[in-house]
Amino acid sequence: MKKVQIAGILKSGQVGAEITIKGWVRTRRGSKNVSFIALNDGSTINNLQVVAEVETFGEEFFKNINTGAAIGVTGTLVASAGSGQSVELKAEKIEIIGLSDPDKYPIQPKRHSLEFLREMAHLRPRTATFSAIFRIRHAMIFAIHSFFNERGFFNIHTPIITSSDAEGAGEMFRVSTLSAINPPLNEEGAVDYSQDFFGKAANLTVSGQLEGELFAMALSKIYTFGPTFRAENSNTSRHLAEFWMIEPEVAFFDLNDNMDLAEEFLKYLINYALEHCMDDLLFLSNRLAEEEKVKPADQRSMELIEKLRFVADNDFIRLTYTDAIEILRNSKPNKKGQFQYPVGGYGTDLQSEHERYLVEKEFKKPVILTNYPKEIKAFYMRLDDNGQTVSAMDVLFPQIGEIIGGSQREERLEVLEQRMDEMNIPREDMEWYLDTRRFGGCPHAGFGLGFERLMLFVTGMGNIRDVIPFARTPKNCEF
Ligand code: 4AD
Ligand code: MG
Repeated sequence: MKKVQIAGILKSGQVGAEITIKGWVRTRRGSKNVSFIALNDGSTINNLQVVAEVETFGEEFFKNINTGAAIGVTGTLVASAGSGQSVELKAEKIEIIGLSDPDKYPIQPKRHSLEFLREMAHLRPRTATFSAIFRIRHAMIFAIHSFFNERGFFNIHTPIITSSDAEGAGEMFRVSTLSAINPPLNEEGAVDYSQDFFGKAANLTVSGQLEGELFAMALSKIYTFGPTFRAENSNTSRHLAEFWMIEPEVAFFDLNDNMDLAEEFLKYLINYALEHCMDDLLFLSNRLAEEEKVKPADQRSMELIEKLRFVADNDFIRLTYTDAIEILRNSKPNKKGQFQYPVGGYGTDLQSEHERYLVEKEFKKPVILTNYPKEIKAFYMRLDDNGQTVSAMDVLFPQIGEIIGGSQREERLEVLEQRMDEMNIPREDMEWYLDTRRFGGCPHAGFGLGFERLMLFVTGMGNIRDVIPFARTPKNCEF
């Protein structure tokens, strides 16, 4: 008999149908005459209840049906006597596919801490929480491709190994096949990368943007969606050393077009989750509500689904960096010395406490901050007419802080060359990039969405390690 998914059965299973399902036992409880097995195959947050007569299988048989075991069940769908679901499966045949020792299986049918489950990242997808998160993750990946496909964008795979430092921040992982103990040295005594695999120093990419720009200069609307690597030593709940980034890049786009696209994109993704992931969102919302109960009332955050609707339905605030600094300087926490990093004047780089103040306290809405001082942003951002600021934009979200960073790009060759010199970006390695300004250069803009930051927002989870299958962070590269 053909195996079917539990999700489909719970949605539209017909009483009387003969079916086979396979999955993992969540729990088993029983009486003298009948055993109830909650079976989950990962297709939905909900289990299918299997009802097995003790008389049919014999009492001994059930000793092997423990939490975590893989089994297959063939039987008939019957109307469920219990509440919660419409059908259950009356077992005629049960196949034990993989045993699980109940005393050793680490994932017990009880609440485990997220920290414990991080150590168990190989088994945590078996829990309700993590299966929900990773189903939502899939839905968001699918929605991202749909969004761009519907709007005539082309997906470009930009290289993962690269010799350029797109962000100019120098926080890169080296890719080398040279001996780590005894590398060849050049005349100056430095490592001689001309003898390395690529004949030059190479790294894992920190962004696909620069290569993405080359394709936007030909296909007009492109986006990248790939792994991104940053060797910054940030051990926070919002940073990963390996994360995924979506980077659209559009020719003939200015900063306003870019902001409109970013806002439309984020709202589309949130609405997609609300439309397609409601079972999982409800589960996560309840989970979060349990966690919030222990907090004082004024520190509790908005209920998850209400929060998603709120962001999807309201306009984002658009504000210049200069205006934001004024607000922050005059804010209560700044005057009372409650910020860890006091806001001085123009030129201060914003910390996440400042970003969150603007979003959560001042406006109570997502904020798009624009036109930052050129000194604190990347070389490729377009210089504004005042010569001081660049056409940058950061989208700031409640609880997350920066979720998107982007800009209009500098399309004027001379200005770009001057900016590169000022910021010590070696021009000779970047002639390919400068060529797009030499031949048919045009205004263009784009941004980068941190995929796991989006996942934090949509799932309401508090730690970025819990929304990626296997987290890579400083001193941690298990699995
Ligand atoms: O602001 P960032 O550094 O911008 C860029 O890389 C540009 N090249 C994007 C572009 O214009 N095409 O990074 C973009 C986003 C951030 O807003 C944040 O959401 C996420 O990437 N991000 C991280 N996410 C997880 N861990 C990290 N270490 C991250 N660093 C950035
Ligand atoms: Mg940024």
